[in-house]
Amino acid sequence: MTAETMTTETGKAARKRLFIKTYGCQMNVYDSERMRDVLAPLGYEPADAPDGADLVILNTCHIREKAAEKVYSELGRLKPLKEARAAEGGTMTVTVAGCVAQAEGAEIQRRAPVVDLVVGPQTYHKLPELIASVHRERGEALDTEFEVEEKFDRLAAPARQVEGHTAFVTVQEGCDKFCSFCVVPYTRGPEWSRPVDQVTAEIRQLAAKGVREVTLLGQNVNAYHGAAPGAEAGSWSLGRLVRHLGLIGGIDRIRFTTSHPNDMDDELIAAFAEEPKLMPYLHLPVQAGSDRILRAMNRKHTAASYLAVIERLRAARPDIAISGDFIVGFPGETEADFQETLALVDAVGHASAFSFKYSRRPGTPGAALPGQVDEDVKSDRLARLQALLNSQQEAFNASMTGRTLPVLFERRGRKPGQLGGRSPYLQAVHCDGPESLIGQIAEVEILSASRNALAGRLTGGERSAA
Ligand code: SAH
Ligand code: SF4
Ligand code: F3S
Repeated sequence: MTAETMTTETGKAARKRLFIKTYGCQMNVYDSERMRDVLAPLGYEPADAPDGADLVILNTCHIREKAAEKVYSELGRLKPLKEARAAEGGTMTVTVAGCVAQAEGAEIQRRAPVVDLVVGPQTYHKLPELIASVHRERGEALDTEFEVEEKFDRLAAPARQVEGHTAFVTVQEGCDKFCSFCVVPYTRGPEWSRPVDQVTAEIRQLAAKGVREVTLLGQNVNAYHGAAPGAEAGSWSLGRLVRHLGLIGGIDRIRFTTSHPNDMDDELIAAFAEEPKLMPYLHLPVQAGSDRILRAMNRKHTAASYLAVIERLRAARPDIAISGDFIVGFPGETEADFQETLALVDAVGHASAFSFKYSRRPGTPGAALPGQVDEDVKSDRLARLQALLNSQQEAFNASMTGRTLPVLFERRGRKPGQLGGRSPYLQAVHCDGPESLIGQIAEVEILSASRNALAGRLTGGERSAA
């Protein structure tokens, strides 16, 4: 009898402990929650630490070398825990999921024999079956196919568990853009969109469970082209989907991430002007400001075309907060190229941003390019870029003082009597207030600001919408 078929006298699955560690992007956060949901009927209950767990899943990220290497150090730490579990007569099944699983496959088990199971991002719905087979054979198991459609059909679990009042919903997965530095097209496969009806059903269900803000996820979320609802032929764009989701009662805020500048169409830009539930915040990675480097990156946009998109967005929604991703030290990047990145940052004015040193990823075209940049040059450029981005973020936050913002309260704050929430611009906001406001949107007068957060006081006005 395997652990999966073992039942208690009441006929329920025996309780087992599941520890999931999530690396990488929000897509992995979403997938980890779905894995938890799919394993719950087998009796797996979430644990906060791997010690003594029956099943450990590392949901991994392959985007930069450091991210991928972290997995192997974590596997090294799991080895004694697995042995300790065996010594007390139990078993710990160690699973590697996510993008390292997809990229490295069986190689992981060769490098780290502690691993029992390797499962790629599109086959999580098969986890119960795969774990059962590991238990039967205590041997190797590997499943890294690309069957996205099946994944969502099977994972659109009516049993989605909800914690809190904000939730991620994957609407699109994969990427066909092939930027020359990036592993995503290889780890997540071709671009694919979930049908409108499926997305709508999931969000209705979340709303019924008290969720008030949804963030639509996709590696290229604005390339969304999901099958139109009902019997309607054709597909819908993200702009159309957002408006449709705006009709769902209980959902007051909609966000989406991550977008590509070339997929920012008129319908989506108009949604920022016309759909009050769509929050005035957009993460729109540009990566670099030099057209020569953008071409080498295969980004298929220029600095000027990026700035033109920002201009159209600001014409539609003047207060929209812009965030971005940047890479410094891409092969061939000179100081003059880097200066163009600084100039672009100056021209945009960011509310927040993520910036990285170029990491050479085996198998991507960038890895083979001549002119790889020295590590200390990369570090120096990153420090200068981050100083500029940080000052922009500080200035953006400081511009909020004296304003009154609708804040969606998500949790208790760090200090007693304090609440924590988010502004429409995704800023963290703290203020004193009753716990009954958690899950509500209320007006907060902003009294002070730092680079990472705003502080204020409740004005007494409650709002049902953004
Ligand atoms: N799909 C999104 C996010 C991709 S990964 C997009 O297109 O923007 C998130 C960010 O990681 C990227 O925007 C990029 O800035 C960074 N990144 C990706 N590959 C990288 C690499 N090889 N080295 C350094 N940063 C990288
Ligand atoms: Fe990677 Fe480029 Fe696709 Fe973004 S658009 S996921 S950076 S290949
Ligand atoms: Fe990382 Fe995969 Fe996300 S490589 S950034 S976890 S899509």
